[in-house]
Amino acid sequence: MDADANSNNDEPNEDVDSETVVRRDRFSGGPAREFLSSLTGDSRIFEADLAVDRAHVVMLAEQGIIGDDVAGEILAALDAIDSAGHSDLSDGEDVHEAIESAVIDRVGPDGGKMHTARSRNDEVATCIRYRLRADLLDAAETTLALRESLLAAAAEHTETVMAGYTHLQPAQPTTVGHYLASYAAAVGRDTARLLDAYDRTNASPLGGAAFAGTPFDIDRKRVAELLGFGRVVDNAMDAASARDFLAEATAALAIHATTLSGLAEDIVVFANKGYIELSDDYSSTSSIMPQKKNPDTLELTRAVAGDATGELTGLLTTLKGLPRAYNRDLQRAHPHTFRAVDAVVEASSIAAGAVATADWNAELLADEADDGFATATGIADLLAMAGLPFRTAHEVVALAAEEAEHSDDGVTAAVLDGVAEEVLGESLFEYVDEASVESALDPAESVASRDSPGGPAAEQVTASISRARETLATDNDELTARRERLADATERLHQGVDGYV
Ligand code: ARG
Repeated sequence: MDADANSNNDEPNEDVDSETVVRRDRFSGGPAREFLSSLTGDSRIFEADLAVDRAHVVMLAEQGIIGDDVAGEILAALDAIDSAGHSDLSDGEDVHEAIESAVIDRVGPDGGKMHTARSRNDEVATCIRYRLRADLLDAAETTLALRESLLAAAAEHTETVMAGYTHLQPAQPTTVGHYLASYAAAVGRDTARLLDAYDRTNASPLGGAAFAGTPFDIDRKRVAELLGFGRVVDNAMDAASARDFLAEATAALAIHATTLSGLAEDIVVFANKGYIELSDDYSSTSSIMPQKKNPDTLELTRAVAGDATGELTGLLTTLKGLPRAYNRDLQRAHPHTFRAVDAVVEASSIAAGAVATADWNAELLADEADDGFATATGIADLLAMAGLPFRTAHEVVALAAEEAEHSDDGVTAAVLDGVAEEVLGESLFEYVDEASVESALDPAESVASRDSPGGPAAEQVTASISRARETLATDNDELTARRERLADATERLHQGVDGYV
């Protein structure tokens, strides 16, 4: 690029007065001032904006677009603004404008060179992505902690028999370990979605300018590198406009909140039945009923699905049908995601703590594991294994269940035999011996017999827990690698800045 086009590369210019610099105030001083301003909420991206400013200024100087001296003065001013904090910024339409004004206050008119070759449109998009990366890593980290506590509790309870439910009706005996490991698997997918959302968030829009690029000879890759972004958002119009990364991140958060809500609901129900006792730390009491110990933390966790889904709906509705490229509606888009991430991270870590500290009442769970003839399927399986068509076996067991409905003993080998005589015209014991029927009626034996891969038999659950731990370790490495790349970039940016200050 020729020197003319880089004409901002002048020595400090004392001829321009501050009045000229702040002329845009003319558009936002009226009754709409507060409505227009995002300054308060922008505290969330204050640090991000400073990093983005620093990286941009370093790049401008490296490219010879601004002089090294001016870059040094601006960078020193940014340090001072950083130390003073977001609350020290004076009024402005947003954090970008307020920081720029603060730079100009400190440096003089040359401070205005900071905004060369960019727009607030690419700037804000970069700040949101920069900040959201950290939030998404925190969210992913809480899912790891939750998986850890689910798997630890699961490993303790591979032999703790309980009734499993479908339609909230007792269905087949399983174990607490099998149940908890099922949630560890679901949360594992939540982690993967959050990391995916991170990877698509991790691209730099800076240099897209308003949407239409810039005549300055900028180096977008260098800025991306200084800010730790994995790549540049290629198309300048896309760079300034795209918010699908917000939708993806918020969806991943809402899905995780939905997972949490199911877990929370189960625990509330289990607490009601006395199957689980929450630690006092995760319980609440009643202001009037002195005996009450309520699972409020899980109820609130369950409710966070409402918050997260609400934010997702709000966000998608805000984005729907927006014309290309930047529209001010976008100012109200990212706060949805930030609110969602705050709520979900809190709920997720509460759920992890509640699971880690809860006590399962193994005795009561075992007593009630065959409620509602939950071993019925096991009996039908046994008959089918002996050669009876499964449908016929199902019929025999269903009739036995009906017959036993009003007896205290429930379904016994004798009841089953009686039904077999009626339906098959021969004794049940032509097919199976009595001992295996007795064993199939026992919840613990029933669980042990279901040793297909992924089934509840203790050795299967133990194997699946160890596979889940491997995935957890890999995800942990993935998270650490991303954190390290960000830390490296922070260091790179520091060094870049140190070259001028
Ligand atoms: N505060 C604005 C936002 O969050 C920054 C971008 C303003 N751009 C503009 N053309 N008015 O979206």
